[in-house]
Amino acid sequence: MNKFAMSGRRIAHIRGEKMSAYFDLSEEERLIQQTARDFADSEVAPMAAENDANGQFPRGLVEKLAKLGFMGMLIPEQYGGSNAGNFALVLALEEINRACASTGVTMSVHNSLASSPIVGFANEETKKKYLPKMAKGELLGAYALSEASAGSDAASLQARAVKDGNEYVLNGTKSWITSGAEADLFVVMLRTDPSERAKGISAFAVERDTNGFSVGKKENKLGLRASSTVQLIFEDARVPAENMLGSEGEGFKIAMWTLDGGRIGIGTQAVGIAQACLDASVSYAKEREQFGKLIGEFQAIQWKIADMAMNIEAARLMIYRAARLRDRKEPHTKEAAMAKLFASEMANRAAREAVQIYGGAGYLKDSSVERYFRDVRITEIYEGTSEIHRIVISRFLLKN
Ligand code: CAA
Repeated sequence: MNKFAMSGRRIAHIRGEKMSAYFDLSEEERLIQQTARDFADSEVAPMAAENDANGQFPRGLVEKLAKLGFMGMLIPEQYGGSNAGNFALVLALEEINRACASTGVTMSVHNSLASSPIVGFANEETKKKYLPKMAKGELLGAYALSEASAGSDAASLQARAVKDGNEYVLNGTKSWITSGAEADLFVVMLRTDPSERAKGISAFAVERDTNGFSVGKKENKLGLRASSTVQLIFEDARVPAENMLGSEGEGFKIAMWTLDGGRIGIGTQAVGIAQACLDASVSYAKEREQFGKLIGEFQAIQWKIADMAMNIEAARLMIYRAARLRDRKEPHTKEAAMAKLFASEMANRAAREAVQIYGGAGYLKDSSVERYFRDVRITEIYEGTSEIHRIVISRFLLKN
């Protein structure tokens, strides 16, 4: 039994208004969703605007998320995780992202992109060394695939790992690394064989305090301003050979398998932001008056709200399906790409409409929808652009 199952009494307190009645949730899943919703409302949402304005991620939130079991959702119980799985993770992630997308991506990257490949591919010693601390939030995880010249074309990455005895010597620079300013442990893809393309890449777990490793420039971004995005610099950094995930040459496949899960998380982020846009739009439509009546009485506003709600439901179902497939270890690369693509494009439309419903008020820093509009843009870009997802999906359809 994992730690979410412990408190049956709390089920009685679950609010039912946003339950996904169309998709059966177990008691435990409902509890996870409700716990995340309560935490998002009480602890995350009140700080979101301030963290965005300061451009700082409060490390204390990681510890609080960890106490609820949200930093070890894909980590088996034997290593201190809750082993709740991808479906439970998306239930929690939607709620956290509804309150603050910067917190949401920190949680998503830690679970899906950092802990998951360590669970899947690290040797036993490495798992024992890192996973319990990751589950407790003592080690925050990040994922380093991209480079300045290797974004969508990830297999062209150039940063090197060269074997030297029982160690690998790392050199090169990684770019656009989410959580990099705060993270303690990085899953890093590096080239071990320059004569190969994808098959010349290997994956490593790299600790922050490794000699020769440093965090470079912190990027100044449009949105997700409380989540750091940095360069990572390797200058003759040495890591033990046992920190390799899988074996030499398997790194690209590990990276892609990992991203299949991460993309479900980012699609969930998009659904969470879109839900926040819808919630804000509905309340504003019920309070703002023009031409002597509430703007919610105008069909133009009603139709926007109806379309937003319908498209959120559709995206959520696609996310749920992809997460269930991943939990069942069934093929899900296409479904994850479809869910992330649909959800991110849907959420960008929803944020645009929310700002439109707010009118001038939505263009002001004081309004929540201004932040949603900025935060949501990246969901069409990171963990694979919309164009890459169309390539992934069409390859599945056309390959035979
Ligand atoms: N699972 C397992 N293996 C996979 C896979 C998957 N989902 N997708 C591909 N592979 C395997 C292939 O089968 C192939 O192996 P074989 O040769 O043995 O068959 C190997 O990987 C190479 O695959 P491709 O030939 O398809 O490689 P490609 O160079 O054509 O690239 C791509 C494919 C889909 C375009 C890929 O490069 C891609 O996804 N690019 C986008 C990169 C991306 O998403 N970056 C995100 C950065 S991380 C991030 O954004 C985190 C954050 O900030 C929050």
